[in-house]
Amino acid sequence: MDLSITVNGIKFPNPFLLGSGPPGTNARVLAKSFEAGWGGAVAKTISLESNKVVNVVPRYGKLRSRHDGEVIGFENIELISDRPIEVWLEEFRHVKKEYPNNVLIASIMEEYNKERWQELTRIVQDTGVDGFELNFSCPHGMTERKMGSEMGEHPDLTEEVTGWVTEVTKIPVWAKMTPNITNIKEPAMAAVRAGVNGISAINTILSVIGVNLDTLRPMPTVEGYTVPGGYSSQAVRPIALRMVSQLALALPQETSISGIGGIENSHDAIEFMLLGASTVQICTGVMLQGVKMVEELQEGLTKFMSDKGFNSVQELVGKSLPYFSTHMDLVKKMKEARRHKAGEAARDNEWAQKDITEKTAELTSN
Ligand SMILES: Cc1cc2nc3c(=O)[nH]c(=O)nc-3n(C[C@H](O)[C@H](O)[C@H](O)COP(=O)(O)O)c2cc1C
Repeated sequence: MDLSITVNGIKFPNPFLLGSGPPGTNARVLAKSFEAGWGGAVAKTISLESNKVVNVVPRYGKLRSRHDGEVIGFENIELISDRPIEVWLEEFRHVKKEYPNNVLIASIMEEYNKERWQELTRIVQDTGVDGFELNFSCPHGMTERKMGSEMGEHPDLTEEVTGWVTEVTKIPVWAKMTPNITNIKEPAMAAVRAGVNGISAINTILSVIGVNLDTLRPMPTVEGYTVPGGYSSQAVRPIALRMVSQLALALPQETSISGIGGIENSHDAIEFMLLGASTVQICTGVMLQGVKMVEELQEGLTKFMSDKGFNSVQELVGKSLPYFSTHMDLVKKMKEARRHKAGEAARDNEWAQKDITEKTAELTSN
């Protein structure tokens, strides 16, 4: 089965991408994932000055099922990449040369400064990456420097900064949305107005993973203290699915969607595609299962397509969107269905069961 899909003019060997984060943190892991069968990857977010990025340990926290200990939620307070930009530029060139058919997307982030954003865009573009993802969505740490979700939470900033990037790009640009906002359509439409080709959604949801009842310290605890961090993994999937469907119904036809949030297997990935995503990204799932999980993704999608008679991945994108409606319409449909059922129940051979006058009244509208 051919699992390829062309999105914004880029041919993806399959719709499965590593999401920006630890799975795409250097050339070695990117190469390993392409060897394993991933169609593409969004590399870990980079900026011009890595020396400003200092991570803490520990920086992850898990929420486990009370029933069997399975990880259902994951919090991180990790920052963007702490590796120097020169190293990244070299690695982007190298990875693109070694894996020309896999799609490499650079995730970039900078401070509120036009020159810096445009410089970063230009030097990364020169390495031959296939596209950009603008990180307007990291919800912690970077926000103290007015970066990440500080921009994605304010549609006017999203539009302005996106415009700086699209002014100098020749390759497709996606903007990655934060879910920590009331109406995700607003920053997404702002990015569209400024010329993006696609929207990636969602980044992590602000969270506190728990409190240690021995020490009374909230987690993850660093030297006794914490900050709220980004929540990911399977618990966020329903929220991500809702946001992706809202975007798919609102965005212009030509704006692509890359669906992200809690995907762990082919079933989850297909749900995102049916709700409008042309590609899907997986971050925490890869951290917990390893890059080999792509084998099940490919097998599951292939089986689904042949079972359901889909001839291309493109055909299933957005297939379930027509089944969203309004609550008022659901009520109307339900009433109609009931009337229909009533009609079915009122077949002629029932006449003898009831008094003829009663039956006549039942079928009379006035
Ligand atoms: C440890 C960790 C680090 C992350 N770093 C980044 C990042 O650098 N840039 C970014 O855009 N998203 C980052 N993310 C967010 C993910 O790409 C993704 O949007 C989110 O985790 C939801 O998807 P998932 O449930 O598949 O992880 C990170 C997530 C995790 C768990």
